[in-house]
Amino acid sequence: MDARLQLRVQRYGWDRAASHYEQAWNRALAPATAAVLDAAKLRPGERVLDVACGSGLLTREAWQAVAPDGGEVVGTDISELMLTEAAERSPECRFVRADAQKLDDHVPVSHFDVLLCGLGLMYMPDPEAALVTMARCLRPGGRVAVSVWAERRACGWAEIFPIVDARVHSEVCPMFFRVGSGDTLAQALRAAGLADVRITRVPTVIHYEDADTACDAAFLAGPVALAYSRFDEPTRLAVRAEYLASIEPWRQGERFEVPGAFVIGSGHVPA
Ligand SMILES: C[S@@+](CC[C@H](N)C(=O)[O-])C[C@H]1O[C@@H](n2cnc3c(N)ncnc32)[C@H](O)[C@@H]1O
Repeated sequence: MDARLQLRVQRYGWDRAASHYEQAWNRALAPATAAVLDAAKLRPGERVLDVACGSGLLTREAWQAVAPDGGEVVGTDISELMLTEAAERSPECRFVRADAQKLDDHVPVSHFDVLLCGLGLMYMPDPEAALVTMARCLRPGGRVAVSVWAERRACGWAEIFPIVDARVHSEVCPMFFRVGSGDTLAQALRAAGLADVRITRVPTVIHYEDADTACDAAFLAGPVALAYSRFDEPTRLAVRAEYLASIEPWRQGERFEVPGAFVIGSGHVPA
């Protein structure tokens, strides 16, 4: 897909999802958020850049960690409405709308102690290039901690993409599972010039109370929200039915316990 089109699909898709995101995903993403913070080892007084910050799940935790000694936290995202959500929850932090691949037009280079990026790289047209740009924002010795969803077969909800893509002209997230597969994330972190690269895997289970909660998280609160908003009612019913069929193996009565896995990567800029 043309990179500019992908950026537009992401920007306006996440604008659609913004008001639903926290309620749908806060609990499900908590293990990834905790693992990124664990890898980042933030200290009071540090300057943190949170790229693709969304509604600020990581941003506000970062603020709690660095604020006591006069730290600074900047959140960036491509979606204006995600940033509005984040700014409401973390008025102490600064938020800037920016494509991750053009960060240095918007934030100072060689400035930050720590760079965070939680579940953002999969949506970018060129995650490798984005990591190079992100690393430039760090001072020598600065640290990176990122998370991505793992490979397709680890994620029980993965059929959401082909189900939606079959009904739209351009795929919503063409390379979503690439960066979390095999050695890709480690290689990308090393190619961005980072040393001491470490990768950990965090298996998880996403709990949904019932079929509507599972469908709302998938169709209203994530990257396919823009496509879904344009579907007519019969198409909406059809995609919901297909998605529920795809997660049927993990239904337990009314509830669903859908497996997934995160990949956490860390490293630092050589001093
Ligand atoms: C799944 S959300 C993750 C939000 C947050 N980091 C978290 O952990 O909850 C993905 C975010 O990536 C953002 N995004 C997608 N493509 C981007 C790009 N090229 N540059 C910056 N942000 C982007 C979206 O707008 C969205 O807010």
